[in-house]
Amino acid sequence: MKISVIGTGYVGLCTGVGFAIKGHNVICVDIDEKKIKMINSGKSPIYEPLLDGYLKKVLKEKRFEATKDIDYAIKKTDISFISVGTPSRPDGSIDLRYIEQASKDIGNALKNKNDYHIVVVKSTVLPGTTENVVKKNIEKFSLKKAGKDFGLAMNPEFLREGKALEDFSNPDRIVIGGFDKKSTNFIEKLYEKFDAPILKTDIKTAEMIKYASNAFLAAKISLINEIGNICKKLGIDTYEVAKGIGYDKRIGDKFLNSGIGYGGSCFPKDVKALISKAKEIGYDPKILKDVISVNEKQPFMILDILKKYLPNLKGKKIALLGLAFKPDTDDIREAPSIKIIEKLLEEKAVITAYDPKAMNNMKSIFPKIMYAENPKHALKGADACLILTEWDEFKNLTEKDFSIMKNKIIIEGRRVLDKKKVKNFEGVCW
Ligand code: NAD
Ligand code: UGA
Repeated sequence: MKISVIGTGYVGLCTGVGFAIKGHNVICVDIDEKKIKMINSGKSPIYEPLLDGYLKKVLKEKRFEATKDIDYAIKKTDISFISVGTPSRPDGSIDLRYIEQASKDIGNALKNKNDYHIVVVKSTVLPGTTENVVKKNIEKFSLKKAGKDFGLAMNPEFLREGKALEDFSNPDRIVIGGFDKKSTNFIEKLYEKFDAPILKTDIKTAEMIKYASNAFLAAKISLINEIGNICKKLGIDTYEVAKGIGYDKRIGDKFLNSGIGYGGSCFPKDVKALISKAKEIGYDPKILKDVISVNEKQPFMILDILKKYLPNLKGKKIALLGLAFKPDTDDIREAPSIKIIEKLLEEKAVITAYDPKAMNNMKSIFPKIMYAENPKHALKGADACLILTEWDEFKNLTEKDFSIMKNKIIIEGRRVLDKKKVKNFEGVCW
């Protein structure tokens, strides 16, 4: 099938390359010229395992291209996925400016196309957005009617950064919220090579499934962190507790890693957007608000432990291992490390940070802290070490690696060190 994808961020590029791997012909569109050039040269603008290799492969096989020209992409394809960003406004509500613009651009392009074309929203949007914003704009600018002249659907994406291509190709489920039957059937066919249950719903249910999934997962993390904070005070290892509860099939053993809280471009903004929507319709979402408040405090738990050892941080050399909001990504959006660095700088600590992939991104926020070439460089002469991302590379650190510190104070914000290789360290909830 001939597919276009509007927006080449984590979701757009992985969706485009993912469909191309399955044998479809894909054109990706972005407004960012630099990204287009990089993608067409076989280099992904984001770090995502497997992506560069597959991008090069589908480019070579001439099943994939990227362009700024949306008219060309719409003309040459039968279906377009919208995967532009849906960030938060300062008050937490959803900022739909990219969705608005993309749907206007699609509308303009469709004005000049006679063939039936299907538009699918893949971006995370609040219930009502596809019909009230996307459909309205496309109809206004194309002078065409949804369901008659063009098809419309909502197909949320559940991939995780760092596992994006794997998750795209092997989803737990595929949700298709269709406006018209023709679109639903077409999308079902598009996913026929995927081994996953397909759930067909109306559009606003599909939109809500995405928010409910992210809210539930974020709540699971805040709940295990709250249990973890209690465990820490009682001298209990929360990971043992998580193992004990995870055997219960109703709870499940996934997403029970306590630590310094969730970050990333999605959980924080999506929980806030859902709260904002609930308030707008007159409902006070108490649990969701607490999910956020537990999460906002969680990065500071590691600093409370640090202060037990070093009450005055002024001039103390602190080594930070890991900056990305999770391993296998260079993404630092809403990373707990940002709050921890801000607080350490406020207390006049001297920071040397190391991350295998995220240092360049962090330099744009904190250009003045020191960045190390490797963990050893960061640890040399340090008064304390905080581990903030569970990169595989840190699993191999040994007692010898930490022996070059001035004081061997090691605190994990994410569970990663091997007790057999390193002695005497503690965790934020263990
Ligand atoms: P992103 O910010 O990384 O990328 C968005 C891209 O869209 C950018 O490259 C931007 O230049 C481009 N863009 C903006 N306006 C455009 C326009 N009018 N035409 C063409 N391109 C345009 O975003 P992302 O992380 O890929 O997220 C996209 C959406 O998918 C969001 O709604 C997000 O919530 C959702 N989502 C993200 C993930 C994830 O892991 N990042 C997972 C599932 C769902
Ligand atoms: C999350 C969801 O997992 C995806 O299903 C969803 O598609 C995506 O958001 C989205 O809507 O954008 P992502 O943010 O990429 O994916 O990463 P996760 O693996 O979910 O981790 C998010 C944050 O939670 C990270 O900071 C991670 O360290 C933290 N986390 C995760 C925990 O603290 N404990 C856990 O047990 C799991």
